[in-house]
Amino acid sequence: MKERIVRVFDTTLRDGEQTPGVSLIPEEKLQIAQALDRLGVDVIEAGFPITSKGEQEGVRLIAKAGLSAEICGLARAEKLDIDTAIQCGVDSVHVFLACSDIHLKHKLHITREEMLKRSAEGVRYAKSLGVKVEFSPEDSTRTDLSFFRRVVRRVSDAGADRLDIPDTVGTATPETMARYVKAAKSVSQKIVVSVHCHNDYGLAVANSIGGVLAGAEQAHLTVNGIGERAGNTSLEEFAVTCQNLYGLRTRIRTGLLYETSRLVSKLTGVVVQPNKAIIGENAFGHESGIHTHGILSNPFTYEPFEPSTVGRIRWFQAGKHAGRHGISHQLRQMGLTPKEEHLRLIVDKVKESGDEGRSVTDGDLYNIARSVMGERREVEERLVELEGLEVVTGINRLPSASVKLKVRGETREATEVGVGPVDAALNAIQKIVSSFEEISLKEYRLEALSGGSNATADVTVRVEDAYNNMASGRGMKKDIVVGSVEAIVNGINALLAKTERAKALAADVSARKKKSGRTREN
Ligand code: KIV
Ligand code: ZN
Repeated sequence: MKERIVRVFDTTLRDGEQTPGVSLIPEEKLQIAQALDRLGVDVIEAGFPITSKGEQEGVRLIAKAGLSAEICGLARAEKLDIDTAIQCGVDSVHVFLACSDIHLKHKLHITREEMLKRSAEGVRYAKSLGVKVEFSPEDSTRTDLSFFRRVVRRVSDAGADRLDIPDTVGTATPETMARYVKAAKSVSQKIVVSVHCHNDYGLAVANSIGGVLAGAEQAHLTVNGIGERAGNTSLEEFAVTCQNLYGLRTRIRTGLLYETSRLVSKLTGVVVQPNKAIIGENAFGHESGIHTHGILSNPFTYEPFEPSTVGRIRWFQAGKHAGRHGISHQLRQMGLTPKEEHLRLIVDKVKESGDEGRSVTDGDLYNIARSVMGERREVEERLVELEGLEVVTGINRLPSASVKLKVRGETREATEVGVGPVDAALNAIQKIVSSFEEISLKEYRLEALSGGSNATADVTVRVEDAYNNMASGRGMKKDIVVGSVEAIVNGINALLAKTERAKALAADVSARKKKSGRTREN
């Protein structure tokens, strides 16, 4: 049987950009559109051109970028909106007009008959200009079903190629979506039906799937689920759920989901919650001893699918729930193989920290292990040590920082500027480190322990190398800049320890392969 493919209509750059506080410049929109195209979406809704000149420029830039995806622009059912979208060079126009009584009465102040007339006119006008047309009766799911059917009939007769069903305020259930999809299908067999769900009750993915199972051929989605209020259906959750749980396919290259998510988060400034499915930082992170033990024996004991299918890697965190197996695995990754009695001591110290309410970063674990094993000279010196730090800051000047690091015994210095002294110091460290490893700062968290201006700054960072290896580090100091620098240096040391270990293992494997090849030849 032929596999059913669900079309992905991506609206990250339109509904996603309507997230309160988000505003992208044209070049950023283009960068996201290119990433979406690589990801394999079918349609990119590039924006709502009538809203501003910058929006038009962004949509125009995307339309002429030679992408494979269909480029679409949003328009109200009005000539000026439709003309403006088409002037941006789009392949299709997404025309919308509200159809629920609450919107007709309190927002548009028009009758149902007027709504039908304007919808048909809008669709006919856009079609006459030679583009594909998708029509959205806004707030469909709060619309009387028999009137909804009349809307579908009118826009289908007017030539709409696709009919989208917006659950504008996210009040639908999967059953509601199924009912509206079936109603649309019963009116017109030729029209492609789409669903557009909002996440006000946390049901957007379930509702979109409900619609698709009832026969919708397309879903409106946004990367990271960003959008108005509680957001839209999250593209990554929808695509992976369709594929893994329902045997439905999309054209999404799931291996690119994580990097696309990171890009969208970086450019929109909307932080992804750590426990978000698929792309949240914790989605493949494990602390509990029982889970870690299971994972090390067979990852499917506590993971629903292989992290690499969505461009991720699994990671382990030491903490009060951790056990010997997990800690020993983490230490081995850092090239440390403590004796049984040392391991027991390290685990005890990790649990003590956890009981005191502190999380244990990779850097902390590395330092604990070094202090336990170091007394017996079992471990090497740290690869990177902080030797000096000076910052200059003030008003009407760019803050700068000079950092001196000892890297594998050799002193290196750099001076950088930043938005503040912390940023400048971290930039200087990254500059030094970039000469021998590609390491980027992925997360920076700052907490003040106790109130007052003399509070201790508790800084946690997560750093990543070019191969997606990650490590966390912590710094705790009264001086926020020194605490931040200490955190990143600890994180870098933990990461380098892992990387060095990975390189040593790779070299060892290749040497053994060569040797066994030679033996066979002899
Ligand atoms: O949520 C909604 O109703 C919309 C329409 C413009 C389709 O975003
Ligand atoms: Zn919407």
